[in-house]
Amino acid sequence: MADQQARLSWREGVIPVSDQFDDPYFSIQNGLAETEHVFLAGNDLPRRFAPGFHIAELGFGTGLNMLAAWRAWEETGQAGALRFTSFEAFPMAPGDMARALEAFPAVAPWAERFLAAWSGHGACDLGTLHLEVIEGDARMSLPSWTARADAWFLDGFSPAKNPELWEPALMAEVAAHTAEGGTAATYTAAGFVRRGLEAAGFEVTRIPGFGRKRHMTQAVKR
Ligand SMILES: C[S@@+](CC[C@H](N)C(=O)[O-])C[C@H]1O[C@@H](n2cnc3c(N)ncnc32)[C@H](O)[C@@H]1O
Repeated sequence: MADQQARLSWREGVIPVSDQFDDPYFSIQNGLAETEHVFLAGNDLPRRFAPGFHIAELGFGTGLNMLAAWRAWEETGQAGALRFTSFEAFPMAPGDMARALEAFPAVAPWAERFLAAWSGHGACDLGTLHLEVIEGDARMSLPSWTARADAWFLDGFSPAKNPELWEPALMAEVAAHTAEGGTAATYTAAGFVRRGLEAAGFEVTRIPGFGRKRHMTQAVKR
């Protein structure tokens, strides 16, 4: 599964849709507002930002979530670098990322800086952002990760189309790699995902979702 690049089609010329998973990378309605609602507010960010704060993510995709978090970090004047680690099985070619991110002019200054430095693989240091993308199936790579995140962005494709990125064993690994008092958030409120997070030791709450989605999931590790 590693070494495979994302294969895409473009809906209406602007929204990347995965050919592997038959699912769009972000919401047609407003991808950036959804990211801010689900992953930032869902993890109580930027309020919880602190020196050395570490976000981890399942599914790097276009990098939109990372850019939204990095923008929030800089705009709220945080000291030092935000650490952002993302697990990705099918890295997107930088040219495709650039095309996808054109839909979000609000993050264009961050997208430009990121894309100027991003080789498409590995890590990059942008001063206020230390990014690492760990390639391969997260079910294989997360267990041997040695860090613990303060906040998780759980952003696989829909659980119906990408069940392997939501399975209970992986949620247990997410919990094992979360700092005490750390959090996780996801756009889905699928029962098996909530149960997996609960079984892993998170306190799980269903809160209002973005746009037409009634619910999303917030989880806190006590
Ligand atoms: C909805 S997209 C993520 C969107 C992304 N967070 C963004 O900001 O654009 C889901 C991502 O999960 C990745 N993925 C699917 N199965 C995976 C697996 N088993 N391990 C790691 N990544 C996986 C896909 O390749 C895709 O990039």
